[in-house]
Amino acid sequence: MDPSEFAISAVPLQHTPYGPLVPEKIVGKNKGKVAVVTGAAQGIGKSIAEALANSGANVAILDLKDASETKTACESLNVKSVYYNCDVTDVARMRTVLGDIEKELGAVDILVNNAGMTRGRPICMDTFEGYWRCFEVNCKSVMSTIFAVLPGMRERGSGTIINISSRAGTLDCPLALGYTDSKTAIIRATASIQEELEADGLGDKIQMFSLHPGGVPSALGASSFPADVAGRYPAAAEMMKEFHKFLKTDPSLCGMTCAYLATGQAKELRGMYFDVRQDIERVASRGRSALRKAGLYTLKIDFIEDYANEI
Ligand SMILES: NC(=O)c1ccc[n+]([C@@H]2O[C@H](COP(=O)([O-])OP(=O)(O)OC[C@H]3O[C@@H](n4cnc5c(N)ncnc54)[C@H](O)[C@@H]3O)[C@@H](O)[C@H]2O)c1
Repeated sequence: MDPSEFAISAVPLQHTPYGPLVPEKIVGKNKGKVAVVTGAAQGIGKSIAEALANSGANVAILDLKDASETKTACESLNVKSVYYNCDVTDVARMRTVLGDIEKELGAVDILVNNAGMTRGRPICMDTFEGYWRCFEVNCKSVMSTIFAVLPGMRERGSGTIINISSRAGTLDCPLALGYTDSKTAIIRATASIQEELEADGLGDKIQMFSLHPGGVPSALGASSFPADVAGRYPAAAEMMKEFHKFLKTDPSLCGMTCAYLATGQAKELRGMYFDVRQDIERVASRGRSALRKAGLYTLKIDFIEDYANEI
């Protein structure tokens, strides 16, 4: 892709918390709720955990890495916080951990599936196992936590599930297989599961969202292609350097968006893919039915004139 072809919005995008998303507007709004955030030892997940703690939620942090810094940061905001060292792809371990969280903090009100990884390899330079590991971290883990947590939310008639997806899930992305397809899958799953909730009359009570967190210069966001891939595809490696110049979103923007969504203030966007850099009130004010009718904030395939997506 030619960097000069990168899409540019006609209105400036947000890169830090703004208007309704500033911490003082959300402080205490999720008081007493129980939140689970995966991949919260660092980066965007750490900001999500802290934003939820600022909003009054007790936060369970799950990560492969030591997350004691996130736990301490949450506790300093006067909420309870627990940290579990776990691999989100280990379904049995995740079931145990989620059960332990329920015993320790109470039933889960807010689930944020944030843990993610990328490989930056084309299929001809990857193994199936490497590819699948990426897919499992980014998609299988999301589905396994939803399967574990959603039944309780349905019984109680309340809850918020946020899946951190990516703009990469809305595009054809060479050299990112495993990442791009897993992110697409969770955007589609989010929308489809929300429709099942609507069918049971639960749309007003349980909301799911898939988010693009913006371009964040985190470990993952600022990663480069492995040397062997850069050697074979030098133009792509150069393009990646250009791409890194676009990474200017503070992780707190995604964090505060998650806290805001958990308050139920943007129900009109339920089931949808949302780029946190867009003005959430402006987009939500269009209304769910208008956005859906126009096929916006969802994945779709268009055809040439005269052809429709027929049954
Ligand atoms: N940074 C960006 O610009 C950007 C853009 C689009 C989407 N995202 C998405 O945002 C999310 C957070 O990414 P980030 O940028 O903060 O990256 P990051 O690498 O800084 O953080 C990812 C976290 O997930 C954890 N993790 C990875 N695999 C795990 C596993 N198997 N079990 C438990 N924990 C695991 C890591 O230990 C780490 O703490 C990811 O889902 C990523 O795809 C990021």
